[in-house]
Formats: sequence, structure tokens, C-alpha cells
Amino acid sequence: MNKKVSVNTVQKLKNNGEKISVLTAYDYSTAKYIDEAGIDIILIGDSLAMTALGYETTNSIGADEMEIFTKAVAKGANRALVVTDMPFMSYHSSEAEAVTNVCRMVKAGANAVKIEGATDYILNVIRHITQIGIPVMGHVGFTPQFLNKIGGYNIQGKSFESTQEILAQAKKLEDAGVFSIVLEMVPEESAKYITENLRVPTISCGAGRFCDAQVVVCDDLFGKYSEFTPKFARKYGDMRAFITDCAKNYNFDVKNGRFPSENEVFHVKEEELKNFN
Ligand code: KIV
Repeated sequence: MNKKVSVNTVQKLKNNGEKISVLTAYDYSTAKYIDEAGIDIILIGDSLAMTALGYETTNSIGADEMEIFTKAVAKGANRALVVTDMPFMSYHSSEAEAVTNVCRMVKAGANAVKIEGATDYILNVIRHITQIGIPVMGHVGFTPQFLNKIGGYNIQGKSFESTQEILAQAKKLEDAGVFSIVLEMVPEESAKYITENLRVPTISCGAGRFCDAQVVVCDDLFGKYSEFTPKFARKYGDMRAFITDCAKNYNFDVKNGRFPSENEVFHVKEEELKNFN
């Protein structure tokens, strides 16, 4: 096994000008394979609400569900840094609730957590969590948990003024102790400007080529989630077609008595056979 990726490794990669790869995963075997492929950070994104559980938005998932998926992914990830997305309403009522839920994810195997937003309340929560030794990944730009407030899947930081606002939020996150910051749906010129003005690595989720890291939802990368694929996610495969083909072939073989075959069954011993007649 290669050395486990830590938050220090992530900072070193940025300092050396090396790109950092981040991919989501929601189950044991996917985590194991992408870990073996050399991905640096595996994120149990709350995107699993939509991709794995079929919910309409990410806001429907709760801490109980995130904890189960964290356990599965953490078992598969030997090298990658494992980060769990804190779901909507798992850190919003009080700092004590935030700490309790974050600790549940750490006990389930997460090495760090991701928290969306940079309001005064959230900055306070992040300070609390980093002070008890749990690394936090920040998330600004488009923040899906604020969808109802933002009013739609809108690109953020389209002007210099709004970019300055995102940078100010990112700097506050940095001061609160985050080890990295996701920039979601931000034009790449704005993301470049923000990246150049921060110490911690930025992670692009539709924020272009100049961030230190890139993150993609694994179901988009594999071509598995078919409801929609965002402009900024590249499909490297067609798992939907692969799964449908496998299921169709299996269905055909079952209906036509072709599955199972002689090689796929168990037999009783010769001397037992007479008792069956
Ligand atoms: O939920 C998620 O998967 C995410 C990333 C894509 C950043 O938040």
C-alpha cells in the first residue's frame, strides 16, 4: 500500500504545483477500485442523495444515511483521504449538534468532513470542529444546500465584484482553519483569481482548469447517473448501457433456460443420487 494521503500531503501537492484528484464514491467496491487507481481524495458527497438514493435534491439526506455510506467507503479506501460531506441540517441547529454529527462520521471512518457555506454561524462551527482536531474542507461558490436561497443552479462569481465576495468568504474559511476549499460553478478566470489569493488548495467543481484540484461525481464520470450530466463533468464510460446490457442478457438467458449452465451448479455425490429417484 502507498502511504496514506493526509491533509499535509494535500497541501504539499499544492505547494509543489502538482494537481490533486478528487472523486466521489458511495460504496465499498467503488471506493476500493478508485483508491487503487490512485485518486488522492475520496469524497462521500451528499450527491449520493440523488445518485444512489434517488432523492430529488441533496437536502433530503440525513446524518444516519451519510454515516452508513461513510462506513462502506472508508473500508475500501486504504490510501486516499476520506472526506464526508456533512448533510443539510446536521450542523445547522447548534455547534454541539455539529460536533456530535461530525464525530459520528469520523467514527465511521472519515478522515475529514466537508461543510458548505461561510456565514458567521458556519465559520464558528468550522472553528469548533478544527479545534477538536477534525480537518474541514470548505465549499463556496454555488452551494447546493443553499439552493432555495440562491434560487436556481446559477453560476457564481460572474463579475469581479462577486468574485471578490467569494474570495472574502474563502479567506474567512482559511482563517477558520479549513484545509481546502471547493469552488463550485465559478468561471475559471474568477476561480484562478481566488486560487492565486489563497494559501490552501482550491478544488474545482465546475470552476475550470486553474484550481489546485478537480472533483467529479463518480456516477457522472462512469456514465451511470442518467437524469442529467452537468456541463463540467466528463463522462469516461457508459455504465448505464453496460448495466442495462448485462441485465438484458441475464434476463434473456434466464427466460430461455440458458442460465445457470452445468459449470454454475452444485451436484450431490454419485452415491447419494439413488436416494433422489
Ligand atoms: O456532493 C457532492 O458530491 C459534492 C461535490 C461534487 C463537491 O459536494
